[in-house]
Amino acid sequence: MGFVSIEKLNKQNEYIAEIRALIKGLSKKAFVFTLGCQQNEADSEKLMGMLKSMGYTITDKENEADVLIVNTCAIREHAERRALSIIGRFKHYKNSNPDIIIGVCGCMTAQEHRMEQMKNSYHYVDFTFGTGALHRLPEFIYNAINKSKRYFDKDIEIPEIAEGININRQSKYKAWVSIMYGCNNFCTYCIVPYVRGRERSRKMEDVLNEVRDLVKKGYKDITLLGQNVNSYGKDLEKRPTIADLINEIHKIDGDFWIHLMTSHPKDASEEMLEAVSKSPRTKGHFHLPLQSGSDEVLCRMNRRYTTEKYLKIIESLREKTPEVVLTTDIIVGFPGETDEDFEKTIDLIKKVKYDSIFSFIYSRRKGTPADKMKEQISEEIKHERYDRLCQVQNEIAYEKNQMMVGKIVKVLVDGKSKNNENVYTTRTDGNKIVHIESDKDYTGQFINVKITRADTFALYGEKI
Ligand code: SAH
Ligand code: SF4
Ligand code: F3S
Repeated sequence: MGFVSIEKLNKQNEYIAEIRALIKGLSKKAFVFTLGCQQNEADSEKLMGMLKSMGYTITDKENEADVLIVNTCAIREHAERRALSIIGRFKHYKNSNPDIIIGVCGCMTAQEHRMEQMKNSYHYVDFTFGTGALHRLPEFIYNAINKSKRYFDKDIEIPEIAEGININRQSKYKAWVSIMYGCNNFCTYCIVPYVRGRERSRKMEDVLNEVRDLVKKGYKDITLLGQNVNSYGKDLEKRPTIADLINEIHKIDGDFWIHLMTSHPKDASEEMLEAVSKSPRTKGHFHLPLQSGSDEVLCRMNRRYTTEKYLKIIESLREKTPEVVLTTDIIVGFPGETDEDFEKTIDLIKKVKYDSIFSFIYSRRKGTPADKMKEQISEEIKHERYDRLCQVQNEIAYEKNQMMVGKIVKVLVDGKSKNNENVYTTRTDGNKIVHIESDKDYTGQFINVKITRADTFALYGEKI
């Protein structure tokens, strides 16, 4: 494990300088399409940062781009299908202008069978690479400009971290900060460990410097990213913990929030819960993926915790911060999930009363152990369970949102609502949406609002 060497990064900087010289004065544009989770959003900001360094202007119009990049996701079949349809759509750009460069990267192309598919069936794609080769984009673009052979990078699991890449942040007040990459957990349904390699943590000083810099620039909402942030630091020399990191961030002056994405229950320590609930920056929201309320299913998922342990964490968190907004992830229709197993999930949801849940229908992923399990659940049952889960959760969410009415809360203004001129969308520190009416634009600022009304998916309030 380690970091990409200075020599290797310098090599990429040389490519950047060469491309700059080649495209100087030609007003070339680049378009990056992002699918998937925040980790991919963060990666795309780096792709865009590098493209800008090369001299490209970032555009949001794909039809005017000279470079088209698709940053793909492989978490569920639907994500891959979307990626393939977008890549398919790009074919006609290449047909009308053979100088256009098309690259595909991210989790989908980190799988060998998808890489082969791009190579053999998508002849207009110039190059693909996996998540570990992000920093080599300049080299791939340089070769494509010079009409070198099409290139399909096989170095899927480069277990290294590249520091110092330019980041083209998409927001002026919300930022992603990756604190670690990869995953060691191998939940049996999940593709992530295969496409993002083993866990590796960034040095605490690098993370702290990035957060300090963001706060100085006025960022208000910072999400610390990692597939399991609770195992942060285990691979570093001084073995700092996620609690140490939160405590250090707490000391940074400024008015800002911190979110953690994501915490694995098996590694949730008392020390971490203490740090989270002590700091006003972190205590508003906690996302703790449950996946299933049945111990048998959890065991087959290789989650390595029981519902009893999970509930103890929730209890401890609520004891420390009764107001904490709790969210979770649930998978329905995991192989072998019986009606009883599913009812246990429903019971647990009712017991915990999450503010919101992200529910997913189990999707078979090639190469994962769950894909080989015999008792796959029919699509019909999966959908029935999914609908039932949503219905139960909607009732809980409605009830929980009603409890907010009359309260005064601090929100961060996200921007104008698409449908209504004077309506702004804002968010609480617990990530609850609050719509407000305002003549003035407070986008990117904290304001206080009084909640006047609530429904299942949103709150409504007025600025005070
Ligand atoms: N590392 C994070 C999750 C990343 S993926 C964690 O462990 O919490 C986000 C969510 O997608 C997971 O929590 C899980 O609920 C869901 N998911 C992952 N693989 C899936 C699959 N094969 N089918 C359906 N949902 C899946
Ligand atoms: Fe996937 Fe499990 Fe790793 Fe999360 S912890 S990324 S669900 S393998
Ligand atoms: Fe994220 Fe999708 Fe990859 S959820 S880690 S972009 S498989």
